[in-house]
Amino acid sequence: MAITYEQGLAFVQGFAAAIAENKEYLTQLDSEIGDADHGTNMNRGMQAVLPKVGSLEGADLSQLFKTTAMTLISTVGGASGPLYGTLFLGLGTAVTGKTALSTEDWSQALDAAVQAVRARGKAEPGDKTMIDALQPAADSLREAAQDGATLEAALAACEQAAEQGMQATIPLVARKGRASYLGERSAGHQDPGATSSWLLVRAARQAITAET
Ligand SMILES: Nc1ncnc2c1ncn2[C@@H]1O[C@H](COP(=O)(O)OP(=O)(O)O)[C@@H](O)[C@H]1O
Ligand SMILES: [Mg+2]
Repeated sequence: MAITYEQGLAFVQGFAAAIAENKEYLTQLDSEIGDADHGTNMNRGMQAVLPKVGSLEGADLSQLFKTTAMTLISTVGGASGPLYGTLFLGLGTAVTGKTALSTEDWSQALDAAVQAVRARGKAEPGDKTMIDALQPAADSLREAAQDGATLEAALAACEQAAEQGMQATIPLVARKGRASYLGERSAGHQDPGATSSWLLVRAARQAITAET
């Protein structure tokens, strides 16, 4: 089984839907350790992405992800716009020329995308950011692909790793982004960006395996 353009589009649309559904939750998390705008920021961006990707004609997966990236960068203020823009740009660049993606292709794309976000934001695992969900997700996807897992199993492992990584941000002290201004007081709260990143990985699994 391979990931098609239609599934890529369903992933982007599903991520937009998940952000819309969880807008208040994400903003609530950001109110605890940031400035209470993460849900609003991400929702503004993904709602702008929907008509853009809906009107693409004859596009491939690379153009789909790059359009998503450019729209996020131009519509979302705050740290998360450029960072999610970088993530989608990384995915788009990695899948250039490909019409259907194998588990291996998707793993390489996610690896490249996470590397790009790390290069841009300079966050390391353990800094209490979206990287704490994304890096374990990319690692577990790569391991599953190397073990010859089916695409379904690999995506499920990826989603589970992201969820665990998200939950593991709770005790951490933030070292990047606004939450780092709180120092020790940032501990005891789940990172909003790690939470939206879990939603992203979950949307990929749902769109590609068509399960909820
Ligand atoms: N340097 C960084 N690298 C990776 N992720 C970051 C970085 N800075 C912030 N983040 C992520 O961005 C999230 C906050 O996004 P958002 O509230 O939309 O932006 P802002 O912090 O500008 O208000 C954080 O929860 C964190 O996961
Ligand atoms: Mg914020």
